[in-house]
Amino acid sequence: MTDEHRLTTHSPADTHAVGARIGASLCGRACIALDGPLGAGKTQLTKGIAKGCGVGPDVTVNSPTFVIVNEYAGRVRIFHIDAYRLSGCEELDAIGFDEMLESDSVVIVEWSDRVASIIPDDHLAIRMEHAGDTIRDIRIRATGERSRRILGALSGLS
Ligand SMILES: Nc1ncnc2c1ncn2[C@@H]1O[C@H](COP(=O)(O)OP(=O)(O)O)[C@@H](O)[C@H]1O
Ligand SMILES: [Mg+2]
Repeated sequence: MTDEHRLTTHSPADTHAVGARIGASLCGRACIALDGPLGAGKTQLTKGIAKGCGVGPDVTVNSPTFVIVNEYAGRVRIFHIDAYRLSGCEELDAIGFDEMLESDSVVIVEWSDRVASIIPDDHLAIRMEHAGDTIRDIRIRATGERSRRILGALSGLS
C-alpha cells in the first residue's frame, strides 16, 4: 500500500469535497497535520472533513485563530487547532492536547510544523500548495499504521 496520495483541486468546492471524503473515512482516533501557506485551503479542507465526520450544515467551521481550539460534535468528535499564533508546544500541552488525542477524536492541527515535536508519530500529513488562482496541489501522506488505514480508505480519490 502506498504511503502517499497526491491530487489537485480546481475550486474551493473541490477541496471541500476532498475533505468530506477524508472525513467520511474517519471513525475514531486520528491526528491530521495540515500545512501550507496562508490561503492554501487548510481551513476549507477542514470544513469538508467536518462535514464528512457528520458535523451538521448549521455549524460554522472557521479557523480557531483566537481561541486555540474549536470543538465540533459529529459522528466523531473533532478538535480543530490553529497553531499559527501559538507560542509553542507548551501552550498546546496546557490545553490538554494529549487528552484530545487519547479521546478517540479527530484532532486537526493547522500549521502543524510550528508544533512539530508534539504531533504524534502516526499522523496523516497533508500539505497544500497554491498552483494557480483557484488551483491547489494537495499531498496526503501516512506516517504510521493508523494513518495508513485512513489513506487506504481514500485510495479512490483522484
Ligand atoms: N482549489 C481551492 N481550494 C481551496 N481554497 C481555494 C481554492 N481556490 C481558491 N480558494 C480560496 O483560497 C482561500 C483558502 O482559504 P483558507 O481555507 O482559509 O486557507 P488557509 O486555512 O490555508 O489559510 C479561500 O478564500 C478559498 O475560497
Ligand atoms: Mg486556516
